[in-house]
Amino acid sequence: MSAGWNWYVIIFTVANILACFWLIRYTSTFKAEQKEKGETTGHVWDGDLQEYSNPLPRWWLWLFYITIVFALVYMAFYPGLGNYKGMFGWSQKGQYEDEIAAADKQFAPIFASYAEKGIPELAKDAQAMESGQRLFLNYCATCHGSAAQGAKGFPNLSDKNWIWGGSPEAIKISILDGRNGVMPNMGINSEDAEKLTAYVLSLSGRGSDNSLVEAGKTLYTEKGCIGCHGPDGNGNVATGFPNLTDDGWIYGNSPGVIKETIMNGRNGVMPAHRDFLGEEKSHLLAAYVYSLSN
Ligand code: HEC
Ligand code: HEC
Repeated sequence: MSAGWNWYVIIFTVANILACFWLIRYTSTFKAEQKEKGETTGHVWDGDLQEYSNPLPRWWLWLFYITIVFALVYMAFYPGLGNYKGMFGWSQKGQYEDEIAAADKQFAPIFASYAEKGIPELAKDAQAMESGQRLFLNYCATCHGSAAQGAKGFPNLSDKNWIWGGSPEAIKISILDGRNGVMPNMGINSEDAEKLTAYVLSLSGRGSDNSLVEAGKTLYTEKGCIGCHGPDGNGNVATGFPNLTDDGWIYGNSPGVIKETIMNGRNGVMPAHRDFLGEEKSHLLAAYVYSLSN
């Protein structure tokens, strides 16, 4: 807060508290005088029912004074007056950081003991998998779904189809360093995309018009799909070129979606988690993902 705002806040806050104090004192003495003189408030009900101008009961008045004292003491100890940090030096951020540090200290030995185990072994440890699942729900479920079932553009992690490989090492690398799948836009026109779609569908046993499939097969080589997805469409996990012959799809298996991919290309990005989660939590997550399909 700049110096100007700092004083603005301090002056208004203190002035408000003092104004409350003044208002309470003023009304109570003023009303006490009125009562002595036998004055009424001037309100009349049912023709003759009147109200004395009584001050507040004493205990009630004291409650007001106590809240004022409380406010002053609070302002002395906690931040509230502009940039003044308060005698306790408390801050929301500081409290959050202390809690995180305490939790890290408490859980660090547990994560460290998990990190010593190999991924396949860790995947059989029920207690470890419970923590793994909690981490997954926190950090991964937004994209991959709460049961790792995936969604359009976000691969299913619970089946045996892998873009980048399902070995313990490959899964861990996916998590630590992230992945970037680039299928370029190759300027393919709608008519050719139609044929290529028919061919791609035929690769996973979904037949359609044979002449379309044949034409698509020729284009598959001519247009260079073969260079990435391989001569049989099996893809390559080392480079993240998806297998087109299985029933696992990143973007969905409908002819419309496949045609869209062929015409426009795709760019799926799995963010890196090395700096964010660290090695040990990523290790546990890799074991959790591994356990889903093994
Ligand atoms: C912002 C969304 C997003 C988040 C968050 C995310 N992922 Fe991913 N993940 C993706 C995308 C997109 C891909 C596919 C990348 C591609 O197209 O090649 C992917 C791919 C993967 C793969 C490789 C799958 C394969 O078939 O080879 C693994 C393993 C994985 N993610 C695990 C995780 C884990 C564990 C977490 C939590 C720490 C996580 N992801 C968080 C978007 C996300
Ligand atoms: C430079 C390498 C490259 C070339 C060339 C290429 N692809 Fe791809 N293709 C990819 C990658 C990488 C992905 C995954 C994109 C992602 O992860 O977001 C992909 C995804 C796809 C998908 C979607 C798969 C799914 O699971 O949803 C289809 C279908 C496809 N490609 C068909 C083709 C066809 C047909 C051609 C030829 C016209 C072709 N690709 C050319 C690299 C390539």
